[in-house]
Amino acid sequence: MSDGCFPTPRLSHLTSDDFSFIYEPAEDSFLLLDALEKDCERVRCVRPDICLEVGCGSGICITFLATMLKSSPSSYFCTDINYKAAEIATQTGKQNGVHILPLITDLVGGLDLRLKGHVDILLFNPPYVVTPEAEVGSRGLEAAWAGGESGRTVIDRFLPKVPDLMSQKGLFYLVVIKENKPEEIERVMYDKGFHMETVLSRQTGPELLSVLRFQRSQH
Ligand SMILES: C[S@@+](CC[C@H](N)C(=O)[O-])C[C@H]1O[C@@H](n2cnc3c(N)ncnc32)[C@H](O)[C@@H]1O
Repeated sequence: MSDGCFPTPRLSHLTSDDFSFIYEPAEDSFLLLDALEKDCERVRCVRPDICLEVGCGSGICITFLATMLKSSPSSYFCTDINYKAAEIATQTGKQNGVHILPLITDLVGGLDLRLKGHVDILLFNPPYVVTPEAEVGSRGLEAAWAGGESGRTVIDRFLPKVPDLMSQKGLFYLVVIKENKPEEIERVMYDKGFHMETVLSRQTGPELLSVLRFQRSQH
């Protein structure tokens, strides 16, 4: 049985100055935490050895996952393209009593060979907002939301990497909005041998946010 109601990681070590460099957790971050909590038993059943968050920002999501799985001996890796995120995610882990291993890189560059076929839980709350294409690709705060036309530029660069990263039993959680066309993402991942389910959806202001879960299809 799930213990339920895991605490939101403490972020009291962060100041408004920090949030002028990195993404301040918002509705999308909290929806991902709620989806992980809802899926707690499923996640625990995987008995993950390796967990990885791409685009960790403050580290709130990977820290939450580590707290939820505290009794299991997993390693918690995370990446971000924003150089401030590594330092801050490390602090967030420490502040909440868990050990996070951050890397500043584009998506999973430098980790993909090392973790190939071994990632049991993969998280990505990507830059999903529909923006002009020219806004995509910075290493600063705008990288947190700028997703290009249809908000899929970064997502579409990442999806082809997923099959190589994931272990056979792995679960991949992805945050999207309606404009990202989740039904199209489902088809892309189906062709790569993955089955998709929507774990949670929530309307927040103009955004209809969803957390999608992918796992290898059983044949
Ligand atoms: C919507 S924010 C999510 C932050 C955090 N995971 C959360 O939920 O609060 C997206 C994060 O992805 C990072 N990001 C954007 N493009 C990236 C890339 N190509 N490689 C790695 N991280 C990236 C951003 O810097 C930002 O921290």
